[in-house]
Amino acid sequence: MIIKPSNRIADVQSYYFARKLKEIAVLQDNGRKIINLGIGSPDLPPAPEVLDELQKASMEPDVNRYQSYRGLPALRQAFAEWYDRKFQVTLDPLTEVLPLIGSKEGIVHISMSFINEGDKVLIPNPGYPAYATATQLAGGIPISYDLQEKNHWLPDLIKLADQDLTNVKMMWLNYPNMPTGARATKDFFQQLISFAREHSILLCHDNPYAFILNENYLSLLSIPGAKDVALELNSLSKCFNMAGWRVGALLGAETYLNEVMKFKSNMDSGMYKGIQLAAIKALQLSDEWYIELNKTYQERRVLVWKMMDALSCTYNDQAGGLFVWGKLPKTMKSEGFVDRLLKETGVFIAPGFIFGSGGSDYIRIALCSPLKTLQNALDLIIEWKNKG
Ligand SMILES: Cc1ncc(COP(=O)(O)O)c(C=O)c1O
Repeated sequence: MIIKPSNRIADVQSYYFARKLKEIAVLQDNGRKIINLGIGSPDLPPAPEVLDELQKASMEPDVNRYQSYRGLPALRQAFAEWYDRKFQVTLDPLTEVLPLIGSKEGIVHISMSFINEGDKVLIPNPGYPAYATATQLAGGIPISYDLQEKNHWLPDLIKLADQDLTNVKMMWLNYPNMPTGARATKDFFQQLISFAREHSILLCHDNPYAFILNENYLSLLSIPGAKDVALELNSLSKCFNMAGWRVGALLGAETYLNEVMKFKSNMDSGMYKGIQLAAIKALQLSDEWYIELNKTYQERRVLVWKMMDALSCTYNDQAGGLFVWGKLPKTMKSEGFVDRLLKETGVFIAPGFIFGSGGSDYIRIALCSPLKTLQNALDLIIEWKNKG
């Protein structure tokens, strides 16, 4: 390469799945059958009324123009009503809801809007890799905090408070947690808000799995006073099967959202109107939608548990979210294990190390394939284990 990339980009790793999918594509080009259970990309369709609305809207004459940077007022209203109905959180749709073109993008927007060069950001280990990468891209320093099985994968706030927190400006959290499936409690969220207030840390809670295999859904913003120190991201990707549509939202106090708007309005030019109108329909779906969706995931999870059993992994059958997180038998490390499984069975699952060192003894299997595919994968795994 004649022209060097920026230092900012040179220091950032490309996304593990982006690299692995390339490798998988080469195997497939060579005639290899691969079952990909690595990525949490919902395979089920969105609700029929959502699809109808998109189709209908796409025929309207004004849908193809640039849209407002803040999203349609009706979409903001729909997000506010969703938060009120589901989480008992009151949000002003005019000022406290900012629709986003995907919540992953929002992680970068928030980081660029609040982090100065050298600021420190607390990142969960294991955790979603985008938190650390976005921090680095913004010039910040990711400081990982441990999540451990023995603490139900919740941060130890007492230990954190004992650490030197100078220059720590932000903290990322995500419950129901990805990859572990752990849930937070209201009590923990209360302690978290006090911790953030005491240390002047902006909490960024990422909540895309709230409604997947989780009955006690919780928003960090439901804690009194939370809006002073916390932002929340949500997404239509997982709970409405709309990952490719790229719709999410940032929820929180007007003053914080206005800062993010400054960055975002220089990054994108609004969301396609047809998608916004269809997203409104999704947000208005009745409880029946969530019940049916979770029935499917429950059935799938039984087969994934069987895969974990066949692989001699232990797991928490009370965990939520779109994945099963399993602990490998002692002496095995996730990277080598996953590569060997892919090579010898054609089944791809996610190695825990990609979520940080705290995940290196674990694997993650997504619930995003039909029962038949999961059964095939299970059969291949059992056959492989029987061969020794
Ligand atoms: C924890 C977590 N946050 C955010 C996202 C991104 O979701 P979206 O599709 O809204 O960008 C994902 C996607 O896998 C995720 O696992």
